[in-house]
Amino acid sequence: MSFYLECGKCGRRMEAVSGAALCPACAKPLLVRYDLSRLDGAALQEIWERRGCDEGMWRFREILPLREGEEPVTLGEGATPLLPLGRSDAGRRGDPDAGLDELALYVKDEGRNPTGSFKDRGLSAAVTRAALDGVTRFVVPSAGNAGVSLATYAARAGLPARVYLPVDTPVQVERRTRAAGGEVRQVEGLITDCGAAARRYARRTGAFDVSTLREPYRIEGKKTMMLEIVQALGWRAPDAIVYPTGGGTGLIGSWKALAELEALGIATGSGSTRMYAVQAEGCAPIVRAFREGWAEAEVWEEPETSAYGLRVPAALGDFLILRALRESGGGAVAVTDEEARLAAAELGRAGISASIEGGATLAAARQLRKEGLLADGEVVVLFNTAHALVY
Ligand SMILES: Cc1ncc(COP(=O)(O)O)c(C=O)c1O
Repeated sequence: MSFYLECGKCGRRMEAVSGAALCPACAKPLLVRYDLSRLDGAALQEIWERRGCDEGMWRFREILPLREGEEPVTLGEGATPLLPLGRSDAGRRGDPDAGLDELALYVKDEGRNPTGSFKDRGLSAAVTRAALDGVTRFVVPSAGNAGVSLATYAARAGLPARVYLPVDTPVQVERRTRAAGGEVRQVEGLITDCGAAARRYARRTGAFDVSTLREPYRIEGKKTMMLEIVQALGWRAPDAIVYPTGGGTGLIGSWKALAELEALGIATGSGSTRMYAVQAEGCAPIVRAFREGWAEAEVWEEPETSAYGLRVPAALGDFLILRALRESGGGAVAVTDEEARLAAAELGRAGISASIEGGATLAAARQLRKEGLLADGEVVVLFNTAHALVY
């Protein structure tokens, strides 16, 4: 359906023109808006049920940035399982004090996506929109997974992509990016340095920069994770989610999905899901800002974590992440790499191949439970954002 863009900070509205990036007035991220009042929620719910999972995340196309008659660039991303962690798994989860087995705990297993991570959803949406709008080449800075994913979706669209990676990114990431035809440039520094290099390249060549939140469509792809969760729970929103937060697209997307479902009158409880961000102790700008009561986060100096997806010292959408955490009544916690790694291994023993970022969510749930923030019987969803093999 038709859509327009709205600044997440100053609220300025603009047409969804080709190559739309940041708000021209305040340089903050733009969000996609649909005229939801024109849609019949009950009819949509039926259509989405009927379509089933074969169309992946694009089965929600009525609230995705696709106009009448347009087709997406897709590899079947989405439609990942929502796996309950049963009582027997709870035993293996160890630490009986944490009492996780009293929760209705689920894992949204995003490792099943075409390139092994949830990045595929965002990049399918971003590459789709950009290709339809006439973009002819792409660039992205990446901690790893986004680069592989961009290279793959650009290849699918028949377009070239360049990926800037920190020099210490695991070698598998570089190989997989090249295998998908991506052009790799390694940067001595962090993701923020890669971002600066990507922007210089974009200015020089006209390549379209699909950096996190520098264009509005990756969030749209990511929001489908929450649409799927709500559908899998019988059109009921979870009580809480625990999300491994770097740039925050998935968290902001989940928050946006719930607001859209609420506006459509579809899911029960969509206004009451608490959102919890988990970050690494060695790079926790959002956790610090949440605890200090700041509206924006300060840059985290000298970030150190082997959860590469969480090694984001400054997020462009920090104010949106913090707003989502506070408005939802959620919060933010930091875990050590060791806790995250051990928890990823526990998920492995429950048959779920988890990246360290996915493991961080289980470690965080345990911490939240100890702090009394997750109550007995609550439906809590952990996001395993990537397969263990991605690194
Ligand atoms: C596996 C993994 N988990 C989590 C994240 C953080 O994602 P977001 O940008 O949605 O906060 C990333 C980002 O690179 C990632 O690769």
